[in-house]
Amino acid sequence: MTKQPHILMCPPTYYGVQYEINPWMSRARQPDQLLAMQQWETLHGILVGCGARISLQTPVPGLPDMVFTANAGMVYGRLVILSRFRFPQRQGEHAHNGSWFGEREFTVRDLPPSMYFEGAGDALFCGDTLYAGYRLRSEMQSHQRVAEIIACRALALELVDPYYYHLDTCFCPLAPGIAAYFPAAFDHYGQQVLQAGVETLIEVSAREARAFACNAVVVGKTVITNSGCPTFHRQLSDHGFEPMATPLSEFVKAGGSAKCLTLRLDGEEAAGWKADQDACTQDTASRKTGNAKRPSPERPLD
Ligand code: ARG
Repeated sequence: MTKQPHILMCPPTYYGVQYEINPWMSRARQPDQLLAMQQWETLHGILVGCGARISLQTPVPGLPDMVFTANAGMVYGRLVILSRFRFPQRQGEHAHNGSWFGEREFTVRDLPPSMYFEGAGDALFCGDTLYAGYRLRSEMQSHQRVAEIIACRALALELVDPYYYHLDTCFCPLAPGIAAYFPAAFDHYGQQVLQAGVETLIEVSAREARAFACNAVVVGKTVITNSGCPTFHRQLSDHGFEPMATPLSEFVKAGGSAKCLTLRLDGEEAAGWKADQDACTQDTASRKTGNAKRPSPERPLD
């Protein structure tokens, strides 16, 4: 039996557009608080309906973007590498993220404050490769450090369009060997890296990329996106996935959508190490020998 999906979310109690750190954000366009709460609760309900266990972070006044838990850190087995936010407006989240993980069964690793790294917003596994978005938020240097810590191959992808400032706004690993992307968010070299590295790449149109199609939450075969991505949903169905749409207009006003509102605590579906771990769980259950292909990420690495 595979483990129950486990996701971190944070209620939008203090959510709002209080500053402008990406082109989607304008203090003149405030989200409707009530609608934001309803949209968040609907997403929460969909994820519970998919069989996920949801853990909640306590929201903090003055930290409106804490709702975007994808940026809390990057999870690898029981290890979490905390985010180091580029903008001072989000740096206050760091201590809360540190205590949340520290009080649970995670080994917490910290990068130096000047090494900008925005967690699962910019670092996503597809199979055994860690794809690492840099320049607009995270830095190449920090990705190199992360790759050293977890001893994996990382491929850096330069993000060139400020609207797609985090990798998870333009690249979505769906399972090992298959991902969706919006090509124009990358430079030519980045596009080539993705084309060479991922067997099946679904191309998202400019129109649907703007509706945050790539910012999808994947739970098993279910892929949840913001409303307004019908072509992407057809492409997903053609590849054997089950797309679901839910309106997230109020979070788009801060430059986020479904995926940003979640952090997968047991590993993304597309992460090669997660597949190995699940295989090990199955093997142990049936008393077969474990899969010893690579060191188990269950063991703390430091
Ligand atoms: N307003 C937030 C920011 O600019 C949105 C973060 C969205 N998160 C994400 N993983 N893309 O940092």
